[in-house]
Amino acid sequence: MADNEASPNPVEDDVVDPWNVVSKSVKGVDYDKLIKRFGSQKIEVALLERMEMLTGKPPHHLLKRGVFFSQRDLSQVLDLYEKGKPFFLYTGRGPSSEAMHLGHLIPFIITKYLQDTFNVPLVIQLTDDEKFLWKDLTVEEAHRLAYENAKDIIALGFDVNKTFIFSDIDYIGSSSAFYMNMLRIQRCVTYNQVKGIFGFGDSDCIGKISFPAIQAAPSFSSSFPHIFGGRKDIPCLIPCAIDQDPYFRMTRDVAPRLGYPKPALIHSQFFPALQGAQTKMSASDPNSSIFLTDSDKQVKTKINKYAYSGGGSSVEEHRKTGGNCDVDIAYQYLTFFLEDDEKLQQLKQDYSSGKLLTGELKKVLIEILQPLIKQHKERRAAVTDETVKEYMTPRKLAFDY
Ligand code: TRP
Repeated sequence: MADNEASPNPVEDDVVDPWNVVSKSVKGVDYDKLIKRFGSQKIEVALLERMEMLTGKPPHHLLKRGVFFSQRDLSQVLDLYEKGKPFFLYTGRGPSSEAMHLGHLIPFIITKYLQDTFNVPLVIQLTDDEKFLWKDLTVEEAHRLAYENAKDIIALGFDVNKTFIFSDIDYIGSSSAFYMNMLRIQRCVTYNQVKGIFGFGDSDCIGKISFPAIQAAPSFSSSFPHIFGGRKDIPCLIPCAIDQDPYFRMTRDVAPRLGYPKPALIHSQFFPALQGAQTKMSASDPNSSIFLTDSDKQVKTKINKYAYSGGGSSVEEHRKTGGNCDVDIAYQYLTFFLEDDEKLQQLKQDYSSGKLLTGELKKVLIEILQPLIKQHKERRAAVTDETVKEYMTPRKLAFDY
């Protein structure tokens, strides 16, 4: 099946598109079904083993545990690496809120791991234009939020010599190469196609209808002449949450017609809302989210008060029947943030058997998240406007090709 044949959200299925994620099941989205619907591939153990063999580094726990569960052409990227041929990483963020939450970190955590492991350049697109078009924000405010979010991203420690972060509002106006690629993409895609892929309708503004070309353009190395010296044949790997796949199905569809390589992808599962895995964590619902600005006390209160529990309804019942890790939000969050495999395994066993109570499991999570958030705040506070400017200035990156 061609990449672009997947249909958006058949009636009886989970809803997954760039704007909505809703599942009927407390276990969350059926990801195996999604792979079939989107026409991507599962990340098999054998692929991770090959990656480990080539890089000499064990796979990141987000890969090993299947949080990143789906891919397109990842083996081709490994082929390139094996042959010593160049590729680059591309990811992005829509700056719709001042404070980022835990879920927003996931693609950036894996991207950092991939940059460190493969030693490759990285471009990060901040789609302030997108958020202006979709949210009730002024352009000025969307642009400001891009810079605020850039600080959070920089705080994760990306190598400044290998990382270019850009606001669409700034960069598109300054780069004819980028705009030329947008135009080429725009000429390849009809209104009918974006209607099919994204579900746009007749009353959507024309800004939305042409936006997918803007998210597609960074997939092509020729969009960044200051990095790739005008070369148009350097492929990219895009880490993203699976809801972004429609953009890149479209991109992969037009790439050969433009004489460009198709981007490869790895897709993550969603970071569930505190209230349960039926939806993802969303900054527009503060009670569903743990923000990177929350105090120790807020972290504790939110988890204790809101995190959906898979435990028994009383201590006696819990001791007897045990907890259900498949639906328990504290456990789910631990799979994202507790790195120690053995400890995680032990917690699962003890919780499932009823030995460990919900409050105790939540305590483990709280004690991991509080220092993690504190450290993030400190690192973010250390990011100066000068540093932001450095990352966001179009320039050459350290890169052999
Ligand atoms: N549309 C994404 C969002 O709303 C932002 C984004 C742009 C992105 N380019 C990307 C995400 C590439 C992942 C990969 O958050």
